[in-house]
Amino acid sequence: QYEKLWLGLSLLLIVGFVATVTYGAVGTPAISMIGDDGDTLNPNAIDDHPEFGDPGVEKVGESEYAAYVVARQFMFQPDPIVVPANTTVTFYVTSADVIHGFSVVGTNANTMVIPGEVAELTVEINDPGEYGIVCHEYCGNGHHGMEGLLKVV
Ligand code: CUA
Repeated sequence: QYEKLWLGLSLLLIVGFVATVTYGAVGTPAISMIGDDGDTLNPNAIDDHPEFGDPGVEKVGESEYAAYVVARQFMFQPDPIVVPANTTVTFYVTSADVIHGFSVVGTNANTMVIPGEVAELTVEINDPGEYGIVCHEYCGNGHHGMEGLLKVV
């Protein structure tokens, strides 16, 4: 019956160890602000930045715009994203759930979108038109239909 005791003890050890690791993982959130660098870690990206609560486009300078975009299963918000032609647009993209992709079709604007992180990419927007946005990271059974629209007016 000693075997049972040892089994119980080692199980207890394993449970304790896992609990420690888990506590360590959630106990030390890394908080930082958008714009510190290109790709910042922030487990509460959406909650901490009101811009993502009502995602949209903001004028931030002479012909400069900021576009806040939330990717979630299986859409991009806002949809469409509307920006004026002949401007420079910085996209701040985060995810509300799982890893997504953000790719503006026909351009090299393309990034991974990771929950808890804000991906930042700056794009010169010249010609008016409609540009498709697609998710290029598998994100679930609706992945293939996950599309958005960038409208340049
Ligand atoms: Cu979102 Cu694939």
